Amino acid sequence: MGKVILDMSISLDGYITPANEEDGVLHNWYFGSSDKENQQVIAESIDTIGAIIMGRRTYNLGDQFDGFVDIPYKVTHFVLTHHAPEKPAKASIPFVFVHDGIESALQQARAVAGDKDIAIGGGASTARQFLRSGLLDEIQFHIIPVILGEGLRLFDDVALERITLERTRLIEAPGVTHLQFRIVR
Ligand SMILES: NC(=O)c1ccc[n+]([C@@H]2O[C@H](COP(=O)([O-])OP(=O)(O)OC[C@H]3O[C@@H](n4cnc5c(N)ncnc54)[C@H](OP(=O)(O)O)[C@@H]3O)[C@@H](O)[C@H]2O)c1
Repeated sequence: MGKVILDMSISLDGYITPANEEDGVLHNWYFGSSDKENQQVIAESIDTIGAIIMGRRTYNLGDQFDGFVDIPYKVTHFVLTHHAPEKPAKASIPFVFVHDGIESALQQARAVAGDKDIAIGGGASTARQFLRSGLLDEIQFHIIPVILGEGLRLFDDVALERITLERTRLIEAPGVTHLQFRIVR
C-alpha cells in the first residue's frame, strides 16, 4: 500500500498562498526552473504518485489557470466538495468529486493508486483536515526563502495535537529547499 503524503510549497513564514493568488513565487521552482535537483524532485513525484486529493478551491483555481490541461500527473484527482461543478474542467485527467469527507476520498484514492503513493495537494483547508486526521504518513514541504507577511497560512485556525516528525530527506536547490518528513507514530 502506498504512502499518504502532504505535499506543498510554503514560504518561510508559513504561507501557502500569497495575498495575490496570481503571484507564482511559491511555485517558480516547479514551473520556472530547469535545475537538476528540482527536475529530480518533480520526476520522482510523477513516478510515484498514483492519485491526488485536493480541495474544491484548489481545483477551481487550477481550472481557472488551465492547470489541468497539460498536467504531468496522469492520475485520478479526487476533489473534496459539497457540490460537483456544472461544467467539466479543461483537463487531460479524470476527476472524482467526493462529498463525504477525507476518509472516503482516501479510500477511493487507494482503490485506484494500487501500490503508489497518494498526494494530498492542498489547499489549506484540505491539508489541515489531513493533519488532524492521523491519516498522513509523510509531509513534503518545498520551502521558499521568502517572508510573505500576508496571504493564506497553513497553520492558522488549526487545532492540532503534537505531530512528531523524522526528517528523511533534505535537498538544497536554487530558490527552494525540499524537505521530507516521516510522521512518527
Ligand atoms: N502552496 C501550495 O503547495 C498549494 C497547493 C494547493 C493549493 N494552494 C492554495 O491553497 C488555496 C486554497 O486553499 P483553501 O484552504 O482555501 O481551499 P481548498 O482546501 O483547496 O478547498 C476548500 C474547499 O473544498 C471543499 N471541501 C474541503 N473539505 C471538504 C470536506 N471534508 N467535504 C466536502 N467539501 C470539502 C469545500 O468546498 P465547497 O464547500 O465549495 O464544495 C471547501 O471550501 C489556494 O490559494 C491555492 O492556490 C497552495
